[in-house]
Amino acid sequence: LGEVCLHDDVKYTTVVRLCNATSIVTVNDQFPGPTIRVQEGDRVIVTVRNHVDYNITIHWHGVNQRLSAWNDGPAYITQCPIQPNQSYTYNFTVEGQAGTVWWHAHITWLRATLHGAFIIEPNRHNLYPYQHILKGKIFKDEVVLLGDFWTQNVEEIYTTVVETGTISVANPYIYASAINGQPGPLYPCSEAGTYRLKVKRGKTYLLRIINVSLLDEFLFAIADHTMTVVEVDGAYTKPYSTSVVFLSPGQSMNVWVTADQPANRSYTILSASYIPNLLVATHRLNATGVFEYEGSSWTFNPPATSPTASSDSNTSRHHHQLQPLVTPSSFPAQNDSNFVDMFISQIKGIGADRKGSKSSNRMPLPLEIDRNLFFVLSINALPCPSCTGGNIPGFRNAAAINNISFVLPTSTAILPAYYYSNKQNYADKDLQQHVYTTDFPDFPPLVYNYTGMPKNPLQYADANEGTKVSVLEYGSRVQIVLQSSSTLAGPETHPIHLHGQSFYVVATGLGNFDEASNVQMNLVDPPLRNTVVVPSGGWTVIRFVANNPGVWFLHCHIELHITWGMEMVFIVKDGKGPQQTLPPPPADYPKC
Ligand code: C2O
Ligand code: CU
Repeated sequence: LGEVCLHDDVKYTTVVRLCNATSIVTVNDQFPGPTIRVQEGDRVIVTVRNHVDYNITIHWHGVNQRLSAWNDGPAYITQCPIQPNQSYTYNFTVEGQAGTVWWHAHITWLRATLHGAFIIEPNRHNLYPYQHILKGKIFKDEVVLLGDFWTQNVEEIYTTVVETGTISVANPYIYASAINGQPGPLYPCSEAGTYRLKVKRGKTYLLRIINVSLLDEFLFAIADHTMTVVEVDGAYTKPYSTSVVFLSPGQSMNVWVTADQPANRSYTILSASYIPNLLVATHRLNATGVFEYEGSSWTFNPPATSPTASSDSNTSRHHHQLQPLVTPSSFPAQNDSNFVDMFISQIKGIGADRKGSKSSNRMPLPLEIDRNLFFVLSINALPCPSCTGGNIPGFRNAAAINNISFVLPTSTAILPAYYYSNKQNYADKDLQQHVYTTDFPDFPPLVYNYTGMPKNPLQYADANEGTKVSVLEYGSRVQIVLQSSSTLAGPETHPIHLHGQSFYVVATGLGNFDEASNVQMNLVDPPLRNTVVVPSGGWTVIRFVANNPGVWFLHCHIELHITWGMEMVFIVKDGKGPQQTLPPPPADYPKC
């Protein structure tokens, strides 16, 4: 099996966007960052060298990190940061999984510019089981990153959010939506750089779409073209054909698209932010690109419909040849939660344990459960006498799981703290103060109607701060009910991401989860995901077997919510024998 060795030099790079030259933090001078392409079974060795003034870590989002928790990357969870002028070599194998996942910085808001695709090619035992429905071959595969371009220093924004709980939105273009780092022609000075996907008529393309945005969920379409979803979050799905797909921050999706439309035209690629709660909507322009047919003559600027009589025959012939881009004939509204809920429910896995094949999706699906956890996700407030910009004066916005707003340790990371305390020589004050275990039902119980609107001020101050860790025995079969609430901001979706392994999404619904109502769990073909959208004012049930010893972060992937505290940590204990035991950390493992 192969070895992939890479160097990631984290440095300042100047890029020109939105009429300005801006210095951003990049990997190897690239924005978006480089695509990493490996083969299932490979060992991946990436030396990250930090040449900037900020602390850095890199997370391999969706890589299972079996027995390699030291390489997972979230700052102060599995490692101390790589400090300026320091380096750390991430070293892990990709086993038992294939597909499109990604990498990103996992500290402050630096993932705004430090991110890229991470593609695991399947080995020949793990090919897509529905390949036969594809007529012919994939002609080309293409990474499509749905994200943003921030016009203000994201470190400063992060600091402001920590201190005040809000982003100051003085600048309407504090960020622009972007496709592969390009906002496109709806934004000022952005036409020339517009993302173009060049296609040949009759060929089929594999798009590896990843939502890398800090804050925004996206609806995505290519005018007049049908996409077939074949994979989400690096796990195969049953084929599902649609003209619009939806991805929340953290999610990835492989789709097939055949260039089967008239080739004398070119077609708009559209990425539009989904905002279920228009009360808090800040109106941004859509990011657009071009699905460009070879040989077509197109223009962003359609000629006037009734051209004034011109004596210049050259000009008028020229105008006849240039065709305006085709725009989508129908597209969901910005707040169309019916469409989003429907789309999510159409995604089915290929079956948890397909007989006779070593399928990439063969993660064990628990039919019985040993641990049943109930997590309430909420937007809350915490007292902050000097804060004026939040939803209520004197409070700053916060977010919580079971009303605990997570506090990151500062002088250590939870993984080494846990690992060494286990070995009886642990003396870190920070961990002793902050990290403790608590098991459901010790978390605060469900005490009010979480889907109720409008806001009730009595609920604002309910959050407490804490560094909550839940301990799982090796091999325990875990179910988590994720219940969304609307205590402060009104309806909002939360893309909840688990590190260390993917999970099955066995049920979802609107309103309050009610165990007594005998919820129907899909134990036949639930999708395997690493990031699941808990619907606005609804709930989602996930299941996994905790068989990867280590410390694993669970958090909302909307950066504002993670900064506000919507996260917690699992410790999965060692089992028996070397295959169930976390080995010691690497020699160059960073210190705080
Ligand atoms: Cu994609 Cu904890 O992150
Ligand atoms: Cu959230």
